[in-house]
Amino acid sequence: MTGALTLYRSSIGKKAIMAVSGIVLVGFLVLHMYGNTKMYQGPEAFNAYAAGLREIGYPVFGHEHLLWIVRVVLLAAVILHIWSATQLTLMSRASTMTSRVSNASRYGRKSNAHSSYASRTMRWGGIIIFLFIIYHLLHFTFGVVGYGAGQFMHPENGEYQVYSNVVRGFSVWPVSLFYIVAMVALAMHLYHGVWSAFQTLGLNNRHFTRFWRGLAILVTAVIVIPNISFPIAVLLGIVS
Ligand code: HEM
Repeated sequence: MTGALTLYRSSIGKKAIMAVSGIVLVGFLVLHMYGNTKMYQGPEAFNAYAAGLREIGYPVFGHEHLLWIVRVVLLAAVILHIWSATQLTLMSRASTMTSRVSNASRYGRKSNAHSSYASRTMRWGGIIIFLFIIYHLLHFTFGVVGYGAGQFMHPENGEYQVYSNVVRGFSVWPVSLFYIVAMVALAMHLYHGVWSAFQTLGLNNRHFTRFWRGLAILVTAVIVIPNISFPIAVLLGIVS
């Protein structure tokens, strides 16, 4: 128990929480991307997929039960991911301040207190992705932003019109552009995040550096390239 508490308080414990919650979120992103490729099979396939999501696990689970369990796990992963990132930033700032003060008193100069390019990119990338998720839910789940009056089709009697919602949503080019920019931020965040997670989990060692870096690029590309293709396919009329 004391060991678990020490780990939880340590920076390595927080990095582990960040890595594991990040892996859960990457798993969601792969499945979500894969599900969204059904839009290339046409409205029936895509709408049936949206309806099927609500029935996953039937008859063991009732309507939307398993979906809600997944939503709660995802929300917990997002909270833990943001919490551990914030804690690690505060810990690193505190240690930088301590070394600055001791360097200043010992040598009469300051140490380099600038945070690294990677950590700043991760922080800003994380903030952009968080704002994207809020917009995305208001857009495709609740239909309260990005549509003209009566354009967003709410589900009726178990019938989902996700296909026409996505086509109408991405037909507004500034919205599509925003999605593409958010996906570029997601790509940078994923690449560095997946790579760091491998290091935290001890999978990375100097003999396999190129392998793990390649895997981080592959995971990022598998998620982000199809995601960027969706708004482009709508704007080009391939999905219409
Ligand atoms: C261009 C890429 C994307 C497309 C086309 C897309 C499409 C959609 C659609 C249509 C829905 C509503 C599904 C439904 O109600 O059945 C949805 C929900 C959702 N999306 Fe995306 N999405 C994309 C990228 C992302 C990304 C990158 C994230 C996370 C960073 C994300 C997170 C979510 C979440 C959390 C939900 C709510 C799921 C739920 O609880 O029902 N999406 N997305």
